[in-house]
Amino acid sequence: MKVINQTYTLNNGVKIPKIGFGTWQIKPGDETYNAVSLALKHGYRHIDTAEGYQNEKSVGEAIRNSGIPREEIFVTSKLESHIKDYEGALRAFDETLKALGFDYLDLFIIHAPWPWSEMGKDCKEGNVQAYKAMEEIYKSGRVKAIGVSNFSPNDIENILTHCEIVPAVNQIGYFIGLDQSETISYCEDKGIFVEAYSPLGIGYLLDNPIINEVAKKYKVSPAQICIRYLLQKGTAPLPKSIHESRLIQNTEVDFDIWADDMALLDTIKGDPRRWS
Ligand code: A2P
Repeated sequence: MKVINQTYTLNNGVKIPKIGFGTWQIKPGDETYNAVSLALKHGYRHIDTAEGYQNEKSVGEAIRNSGIPREEIFVTSKLESHIKDYEGALRAFDETLKALGFDYLDLFIIHAPWPWSEMGKDCKEGNVQAYKAMEEIYKSGRVKAIGVSNFSPNDIENILTHCEIVPAVNQIGYFIGLDQSETISYCEDKGIFVEAYSPLGIGYLLDNPIINEVAKKYKVSPAQICIRYLLQKGTAPLPKSIHESRLIQNTEVDFDIWADDMALLDTIKGDPRRWS
């Protein structure tokens, strides 16, 4: 079976397709509608959005108009990073469902342990309150799994200490060169599945000479090497593209990178993202 049709199993038994379609930085409206429609046409069954991306409405429309049964598509959305209270989280979830036009969601995660405008701020109590609201939603059956994003082991420990349900997922920025070993081994130990956003380093990894050399050897593209590498690390990459040929290419990752080439890719160090 092709990787695009394969799934991992989360700690509560829910299945999640191995490759997700990322929608961060895809503009709301036609751009998102067209990209998600193309992704579904070419086999993606896992779509990742967020309240903060402002494109949930277009994601929902594309899914509802695709003709594919809702239950065949795994959809993730995220609680905005500044919402750190119980009632606010309940309200935000309702708004997400309304924007998507769904009666349930597959995965709802806290977008970040702190508001983006106050990165690093201690929001331990707020994260517990938000997560407790998500536990209530989970128990109501309106979401199939709950989790976190951008959480460090300390941030997760806070949830494990004060909440009941072990997060199913921690979605983190993860790509060749970015050392996430501490968070990944912590999550593995606790049974928390790791998803990898920005698998291509938002595109900046694609001109890396080592990745290009390995890509030539396997007669694939640098993007395919980046995605395959993350699959072989046991995570779910969430590549994003608004171009049909690229989003197709990103599903064609049915090859094995040999151990010596994985080791060579592991020698790449650093974060090429430029946030300006
Ligand atoms: P575009 O959307 O114009 O195709 P990431 O998934 O790490 O966030 O990276 C997304 C960036 O990489 C976007 O700029 C996207 O551009 C580009 N991209 C996605 N897939 C490919 C590909 N197969 N080849 C080249 N660039 C790609």
